[in-house]
Amino acid sequence: MFSLIPVLSVGLCGTKLGCGEGGCGACTVMISKYDPFQKKILHHTANACLFPICALHHVAVTTVEGIGNTKSRLHPAQERIAKSHGSQCGFCTPGIVMSMYTLLRNKPKPKMEDIEDAFQGNLCRCTGYRPILEGYRTFAVVSGFRQCLKHSGRLSPLLLLHLFDSSKFQPLDPTQEPIFPPELMTQRNKEQKQVCFKGERVMWIQPTTLQELVALKSQYPNAKLVVGNTEVGKEKSIEMRLKNMLYPVILAPAWIPEMNAVQHTETGVTFGAACTLSSVEEVLRKAVAELPSYKTEIFQAALEQLRWFAGPQIRNVAVSDSGMLAHSPLISPCSTEGKRTVTMDEKFFTGYRKTIVKPEEVLLSVEIPYSKEGEYFSAFKQAYRREDDIAIVTCGMRVLFQHGTSRVQEVKLSYGGMAPTTILALKTCQELTGRDWNEKLLQDACRLLAGEMDLSPSAPGGMVEFRRTLTLSFFFKFYLTVLQKLSKHQNGPVSVAREGSWGKSELYIITLLLLLSFYSSVDASEAQSVPGFVCFVSAKDVPGSNITGIANDETVFAEDVVTCVGHIIGAVIADTQEHSRRAAKAVKIKYEELKPIVTIQEAIEKQSFIKPIKRIKKGDVKKGFEESDHVLEEMYIGGQEHFYLETHCTLAVPKGEDGEMELFVSTQNLMKTQVGSLGVPSNRIVVRVKRMGGGFGGKETRNTILTTVVAVAAFKIGRPVRCMLDRDEDMLISGGRHPFLGRYKVGFMKNGKVKSLEVSYYSNGGNSADLSHGVTLLHLDNSYNIPNVSSMGFVCKTNLSSNTAFRGFGGPQGMMIAECWMSDLARKCGLPPEEVRKINLYHEGDLTHFNQKLEGFTLRRCWDECLSSSNYHARKKLIEEFNKQNRWKKRGMCIIPTKFGISFTVPFLNQAGALVHVYTDGSVLLTHGGTEMGQGLHTKMIQVASRSLGIPTSKIYISETSTNTVPNTSPTAASVSADINGMAVHNACQTILKRLEPIKQSNPKGSWEDWIKTAYENCISLSATGFYRIPDVGYNFETNEGKPFHYFSYGVACSEVEIDCLTGDHKNVRTDVVMDVGTSLNPAIDIGQIEGAFVQGIGLFTMEELRYSPEGNLYTRGPGMYKIPAFGDIPTEFYVSLLRDCPNSKAIYSSKAVGEPPLFLSASVFYAIKDAIYSAREDSGVTEPFRLDSPATPERIRNACVDTFTKMCPSAEPGTFKPWSVRV
Ligand SMILES: Cc1cc2nc3c(=O)[nH]c(=O)nc-3n(C[C@H](O)[C@H](O)[C@H](O)COP(=O)(O)OP(=O)(O)OC[C@H]3O[C@@H](n4cnc5c(N)ncnc54)[C@H](O)[C@@H]3O)c2cc1C
Ligand code: FES
Ligand code: FES
Repeated sequence: MFSLIPVLSVGLCGTKLGCGEGGCGACTVMISKYDPFQKKILHHTANACLFPICALHHVAVTTVEGIGNTKSRLHPAQERIAKSHGSQCGFCTPGIVMSMYTLLRNKPKPKMEDIEDAFQGNLCRCTGYRPILEGYRTFAVVSGFRQCLKHSGRLSPLLLLHLFDSSKFQPLDPTQEPIFPPELMTQRNKEQKQVCFKGERVMWIQPTTLQELVALKSQYPNAKLVVGNTEVGKEKSIEMRLKNMLYPVILAPAWIPEMNAVQHTETGVTFGAACTLSSVEEVLRKAVAELPSYKTEIFQAALEQLRWFAGPQIRNVAVSDSGMLAHSPLISPCSTEGKRTVTMDEKFFTGYRKTIVKPEEVLLSVEIPYSKEGEYFSAFKQAYRREDDIAIVTCGMRVLFQHGTSRVQEVKLSYGGMAPTTILALKTCQELTGRDWNEKLLQDACRLLAGEMDLSPSAPGGMVEFRRTLTLSFFFKFYLTVLQKLSKHQNGPVSVAREGSWGKSELYIITLLLLLSFYSSVDASEAQSVPGFVCFVSAKDVPGSNITGIANDETVFAEDVVTCVGHIIGAVIADTQEHSRRAAKAVKIKYEELKPIVTIQEAIEKQSFIKPIKRIKKGDVKKGFEESDHVLEEMYIGGQEHFYLETHCTLAVPKGEDGEMELFVSTQNLMKTQVGSLGVPSNRIVVRVKRMGGGFGGKETRNTILTTVVAVAAFKIGRPVRCMLDRDEDMLISGGRHPFLGRYKVGFMKNGKVKSLEVSYYSNGGNSADLSHGVTLLHLDNSYNIPNVSSMGFVCKTNLSSNTAFRGFGGPQGMMIAECWMSDLARKCGLPPEEVRKINLYHEGDLTHFNQKLEGFTLRRCWDECLSSSNYHARKKLIEEFNKQNRWKKRGMCIIPTKFGISFTVPFLNQAGALVHVYTDGSVLLTHGGTEMGQGLHTKMIQVASRSLGIPTSKIYISETSTNTVPNTSPTAASVSADINGMAVHNACQTILKRLEPIKQSNPKGSWEDWIKTAYENCISLSATGFYRIPDVGYNFETNEGKPFHYFSYGVACSEVEIDCLTGDHKNVRTDVVMDVGTSLNPAIDIGQIEGAFVQGIGLFTMEELRYSPEGNLYTRGPGMYKIPAFGDIPTEFYVSLLRDCPNSKAIYSSKAVGEPPLFLSASVFYAIKDAIYSAREDSGVTEPFRLDSPATPERIRNACVDTFTKMCPSAEPGTFKPWSVRV
């Protein structure tokens, strides 16, 4: 009955489901309708996952299939994103294309700003956004864009030209677009009638007059009114999923004339309650341009807030919500009793999500008033992410001065995020009335607000000190803004110094039961009465083994004990996803709760570790400390959710013979997916992977759980079963990057040279070992030569979902701690951090702490090139100058190196196979052991085969990866897939070439096709396998001997940021990256990997924060609460260069691995933030090193910028309260 997505998926698979809650934009479609009120056809984007099907009456929907395709012709919006390498895994691409397409339909000649704004509601996890913007910039008429994005321009100008050639793009021809369906146009003159749709459990009524609506509301007082469905839809999907709630009657007032009216009155502008936010924006923008500025203070603030309110897909359909307009507008509810007008004041909200609007009333309109002369208004919002994020704290502030004076006549301060409802600081406002707007008023206001805007330390949402401090910071900003306006008004302008595709035939879908704790019984009898119910599967249905995991230490289905929230107890199979969800909710489970271990701290206290505890020792640490000064500290690095845009999915097709089964899986690891749970040999199970919508390590091992559940279900019913996890389920079940705690003691000389390091790493492994014994200890040096090292790595066993591989695989955390002590000791020595880093860098031929000799060490070259191309020293001076001039805005800069070891540290995984078939027409079918997840592996492998065989890439095709073509595949991971599969492909090609050699010699002028034909006629095999293993790798932790890595990849990044010390917000001003990728196999792909990894790292170190309850329940289960970087978060200037002339003798065609190494370079952003905070602290007289944990969220940045405001909001004593969330 609700979302458009299931309807589209019947035949149109282009529109993707990434989150189901309006947060990712993968499902973006274009909605077109004739608007009888504006009398024109309107096109706008919308999220298909929220858009109600019933609201499509009289509306046309265009999906990505409707604008072009590879068979006939791609639309320029499709062609340009593809040719500019703006698509990697491609899962976000249809949504991004549709956002661009809709913009072009409305504005064929957009400005770059329009393009950036169009993407506020789209996320991409692969590309790092730069290539998308770059490709679409070719549509822009004026290139005055906000982002200045370049790559390789300075070091290798030719490369830039070769990445794409815009002169070859098809021109955009707006006359060729499909027309609005004439049958919908003819509706415009017909009288509109009330429409009613009845579903299995829900009735949707669309009245056409206000009278009908109020009558219906009086008949069904509990009916939900739905316009954009962006609130109800989101809430509904969450409530339906988690609480099984339902709204049986829905009233849709979108076509009622009065509710779409816009009226300019004496006092302001009145918007009908069904006017969308985009239309409100348009009207306000026009008013601001036309009216005197003093009259539009509120409009201007509302516009600024609207810019940060969700994305365009939401604003295009959502109506103005009361929370957004914090100034007291007038609203007009009406009912069968008549109309009344109420002011949104302190009496408006009566409770959480409750207002004085009665159940039988509907809201008719909202008035946004004009401001008066002498009246000033500002609104502020602080969120995790600037774009498309709900506020942590928001506020609207208004002051009216007595005529011609700076004496307050009236003041209103209203805050969101400080209580269950929007609240007014009534006491503070009362005290400020009649006072002069001066420093004394500021001090008193802050003191009063600190008292009035109090929060319990256990308040839902957490971040208590931060939220309290924000209330003061916002007032301070308001104070300064008003002061500036007042003085401008009174004295003229002054400057205020120091201010600041799956198949579609399968029938059965499965939903998992995700339940907490330790259970004693399961009763699925009620589920059977849900329509479409097929069966329930659990541990007892597993024909083979229920044991799984890399260390065989976990179960697929929980048996008696549930070891984490997200451990699967059973699964329901039904005919549709909706029915299986309903049936799953009806399963009753009895629990007996046990005390879980959730945090690293708790695990340390209980000594709950997953063995072995790894150690690396080198030199004499004790002696090293005796000869040096030292610092002792610790740092916490939070975990990270993979957030691949495509969640885990599996289709299991039983073949009906001898236990044969075909599994179509979204996995990086085919071999592990040949599930043992069916009790049949591996030769009966074929696993196929066409491509994945992103993996990043998250599909290396964890997909086996879902695949086993689906396979067991298919086995049981003997029919195909499919499951694609919902985003919240995926986030809950599949684990992510490990949170880490690092404790270190570092000894150093006065010149900054490191002598000794003692370090312990504690990672939160979750409920099983999985891949937790990663490579952290092998990266504890980052790029620095440390003579004496003693290190230990503990994997904490907790009751969280098992954490797993994630791009970099423990390496980034190891290096992050190194940069932490590096930053501390530079501070302690009083030396510039870049000098201290450089003096400690390795040299060619040095031995690492694990005794591997560094050969072909290009890092110092990368360092020097990055220093010079970023103009480091000159910009550093400018930053110092800026910081002297500004008290509340600070800039910081940092240059960071990385050295990343390449190989699986489990030696036998460093092997790969390939299979090459040449057909009689000369075409080549290539298969290898690696999977394609957007990293361009297949493209690189085709290039390798093309180069080896000496034929064009157009003759070579890769269809999929499968276990019946290349067996025993290593996971596509550890950055080595191009290296090892490339060599295997090369070897297979060489075998074929060797067989062809005599034929080529006898016909040297012949073509490839001639040779193949002759070979066939001479009965020469045209099929060959290839195999490769990396030689001489293998390391022993016990003896600290052997080579863990085949070679190293190197890179350096320099980043500059600007922080807002009052709110904790930050901007990524500029980043320069220099990366050694050997002789690149494909510069476009490699640059894409560098940028994508870097932006993912920005998420890790500055934004993405998983939040858990003290009981280990994950709160952040979707894009609404968990923020990954969006288009606006990439550095405003982003320069990526590939180091020249650095062939790598150890890998295919002298290339180097690139997937993981660049991720850590984003630590340069983190330490640039820390640098900026140092400057803010110095202004408050604090100079000592301080602890900054990762990620550097607005909360951490603000709290670290100690000042008078933070001192007014001290933290509660730990242990005296139960926090809302805990650091795991
Ligand atoms: C991805 C995403 C991002 C978001 N970002 C923000 C944000 O930044 N800031 C923010 O404040 N909100 C945000 N929201 C929440 C939501 O978009 C807003 O609350 C929006 O204003 C809801 O409008 P709608 O028309 O879609 O509401 P609907 O879902 O259609 O309805 C919302 C509620 O209002 C009631 N209602 C609607 N019309 C009337 C009427 N005429 N009379 C009486 N009751 C009525 C409905 O019954 C329902 O309870 C976001 C939502 C999503 C999905
Ligand atoms: S799937 Fe609709 S926005 Fe994510
Ligand atoms: S290409 Fe954007 S999510 Fe993969």
